[in-house]
Amino acid sequence: MKDKYILVTGGAGYIGSHTVVELLKAGYTPVIADDFRNSNKNVIDGIARITGKLPVYEEVDVTDNAALKVLFERYDFYGIIHFAAYKAVGESVADPLMYYRNNLLSLISCLELSEEFNVPNFVFSSSCTVYGAPDEVSVDENTPLKEANSPYGATKQMSERIIEDVHGSGSKTGFIALRYFNPVGAHPSSEIGELPIGKPNNLLPYVTQTGAGYLEQLTVNGNDYNTADGTCIRDYIHVVDLAKAHVKALNWLEKNPGRFEAVNVGTGIGSSVLEIVNTFERVSGIKLNWKFGPRRSGDVEKIYAKIGKSRDLLNWTAELSIEDAVRDAWNWEKKIRNV
Ligand code: UD1
Repeated sequence: MKDKYILVTGGAGYIGSHTVVELLKAGYTPVIADDFRNSNKNVIDGIARITGKLPVYEEVDVTDNAALKVLFERYDFYGIIHFAAYKAVGESVADPLMYYRNNLLSLISCLELSEEFNVPNFVFSSSCTVYGAPDEVSVDENTPLKEANSPYGATKQMSERIIEDVHGSGSKTGFIALRYFNPVGAHPSSEIGELPIGKPNNLLPYVTQTGAGYLEQLTVNGNDYNTADGTCIRDYIHVVDLAKAHVKALNWLEKNPGRFEAVNVGTGIGSSVLEIVNTFERVSGIKLNWKFGPRRSGDVEKIYAKIGKSRDLLNWTAELSIEDAVRDAWNWEKKIRNV
C-alpha cells in the first residue's frame, strides 16, 4: 500500500508528539517538521518506544518557505497537520511581532506549499481563544468571535480567516480548524508529555511541578469570579483524546474533500482551578502548597465547549476523564523529575 505521508509541523511539541503517536497507530506515515526551538529530540525516541516505529523527522523552520519546500519535493504529502506556533499568552503581549511573524508566516508558508503541491487535506491547530470573552459560557462553532484578548489569540483568529480565504478562492484542499480547549495530561506510558521551557504558564504543569517540589508554590489567580468557588472555569481535555481528534479530522476530510470546517475539541465539562487542585491532591496523595493571588489580567471567567459538532461531524468525543489527565500528567512529572 502507498504510504500516506502526513506533514506534522511542530510534531515534536506537546500536542504534535501525541498526534504523531495516534497517526502511526492509525497507519499513516507522519513526517515531523520541527526546528526543536521549543521541543526536545528525546521526544522522537519516546514516540518510537510507544509505537515501535521510529518516526521520520526533519529539522526545519516552518516559516522558511524554501527550506520547507524541500520536504514537499521529497514526500508526496497526503495531508498537513500544522501545529508549529508560539502559544504563551503573556509572552505574546510582551512581544507581539514575534508572535505575528512566527504564527502567521508558518501558516502562510504551509498554505503556499499545500496549494503548489495540491495537498488534499489540511488540519489547523486553532484554539478556543478565538472566541475572546464570549457572551455565553458554553460556546459552539457559531458563537460570534469576540475581540481577541491577546496577540496570540489574534494570530489564531487571523489564521482561521486566512484559511477561510484560501478555501474561498477555490482551493481544492479540505480544511479543518480544530479549536482546542485546555489540553492537559500526558501519554499514559509516561514516554511523552508536556515539557514547558522555563516556568510554566499553564495551570496543570504548574500544579505538577509544585507537587514534585520543583516549584515552591502555586498561586491560584483570583477567588472572586462569579463561579461556585470563585475561581475560573475551563474545559480541560486529555491530550491523547485531543490527538485522536486529529486522526478523526483527517478521516472526515478524506470522505468530504474540499470543505472547510471549524470544530471545537473539548469535553463539554467545565472545571474550576480549585477542582483541578483537589483532583491533583486526591490522585497524588500529596498536599499541594498553594495560595490565592490576584486575578491574572486577560483571563476569561468561564468557558467550555459545546461538543455536538465534533460528535456529529467527526464521530469524536472525549473518552478520558480529568482524573486520567491529572494522573498521567503527574506520572510524567515524577518520571522527568525522578520523584
Ligand atoms: C489560554 C487560552 C487557550 C490557549 C492557552 C495557551 C483562553 C480561554 N484560553 O488558556 O486557548 O491555548 O492559553 O497557553 O483564552 N492558573 C492559575 N495559576 C497558575 C496558572 C493558571 O490559577 O499558575 C489559572 C488561570 O488563571 C486560568 C486557569 O488556571 O484560570 C487555566 O489557565 P491556563 O492553563 O494558563 O490556560 P488558559 O489561560 O485557559
